[in-house]
Amino acid sequence: MNFDTLFQNQLDALKEEGNYRYFAELERKCGKFPHAANHQDGEVRDVTVWCSNDYLGMGQNPLVIEAMCEAVQRTGTGAGGTRNISGTNHDHLLLERELADLHGKEAALLFTSGYVSNWAALSTLGSRLEGCVILSDSGNHASMIEGIRHSRAQKVIWNHNDVADLEAKLAALPANAPKIVAFESVYSMDGDIAPIREIVEVAEKYGAMTYLDEVHAVGLYGPRGGGVAEREGLMDRITLIEGTLGKAFGVVGGYITGSTALCDFIRSFASGFIFTTALPPAVAAAARASIMHLKQSTAERTQHQAQVAKLRAGLDRAGIPHLANASHIVPVMIKDPVKTKMLADFLMNEWGIYVQPINYPTVPKGTERLRFTPSPLHKDADIDHLVAALTSLWKQCAIAHAVA
Ligand SMILES: Cc1ncc(COP(=O)(O)O)c(C=O)c1O
Repeated sequence: MNFDTLFQNQLDALKEEGNYRYFAELERKCGKFPHAANHQDGEVRDVTVWCSNDYLGMGQNPLVIEAMCEAVQRTGTGAGGTRNISGTNHDHLLLERELADLHGKEAALLFTSGYVSNWAALSTLGSRLEGCVILSDSGNHASMIEGIRHSRAQKVIWNHNDVADLEAKLAALPANAPKIVAFESVYSMDGDIAPIREIVEVAEKYGAMTYLDEVHAVGLYGPRGGGVAEREGLMDRITLIEGTLGKAFGVVGGYITGSTALCDFIRSFASGFIFTTALPPAVAAAARASIMHLKQSTAERTQHQAQVAKLRAGLDRAGIPHLANASHIVPVMIKDPVKTKMLADFLMNEWGIYVQPINYPTVPKGTERLRFTPSPLHKDADIDHLVAALTSLWKQCAIAHAVA
């Protein structure tokens, strides 16, 4: 059997429908974010990155870099083992305490990524709580979906951000079944924000536990960067808050926070926690420095929101349609994978602007888009440049009517 032919056939089909993914070969330059070098066809060019999830540029923050370098010198490169077998370092525990404090919880537990934290926590909860039913928002991230699927627990999908639908579905379940309501605060592709208070109230009414993914909100919202739940004074009413160290905190890793018993339960039973090498202590030290800084500094958050507002205003003036939402994510809907890629290529090649075309399965077919994420480090001139580029493109392609 020629396996490569089997692989190639499926890749060809992906290319045919415009959903094949081409990665930009970037070389980040410390201190230059959002600028980076792009390696393409044997050439290297400076580009402005407009789609990074290093939302605040903390990945190049001097305090964070210093913490990582110091910890590498002090501890070396790797953790030395799984958390169970010699890999638990002092830096991990310091970070877990920092995270528990960030979310006002008794405890926290680190994972190698946000994806793994969702997958491991939900699969463990769903499989270990007898008769458990997981009520999952229809817009939930792949990591939550996979975790729930792996748990083999009963899954009930409620309509995205629809509290009435959630309530109807909760009411239809047996009163004594353990129930988990799983949802996100900021949805990463549309940038909309969940009605957390209403969801928590309904969950409380039916005795359900709440599982909130704040991956696209930690560091960015709330007086100390605890996320949308912190901003809305709701952290203490949410059973489990999950987050990442890889986006606004600028490093890598994921975590859950909750009660001591909950974190100990996941620590003790989650294969995705137990059977993998712990994060390097230097990563933990860098993430801790980033969190500590963003707990007491609001300058990054304020400037972030200012640049987001400027981009939206610029797009409005230029008549470029973008999804209205209350977050920092600015999606420009193109609704066709081939056109989206064509526009992204043009922006890269003619304007030195890098925005990754977002296609299926990251978003449903027919909702392909360019997803812009301004940071506090994007200058007004960068924003003007982007708006000028899109204006010129819109004129050239006369696509405004098609996508409005
Ligand atoms: C909502 C959501 N949860 C979890 C993750 C996974 O986080 P990480 O990138 O740290 O694996 C992502 C990644 O984009 C996400 O969008």
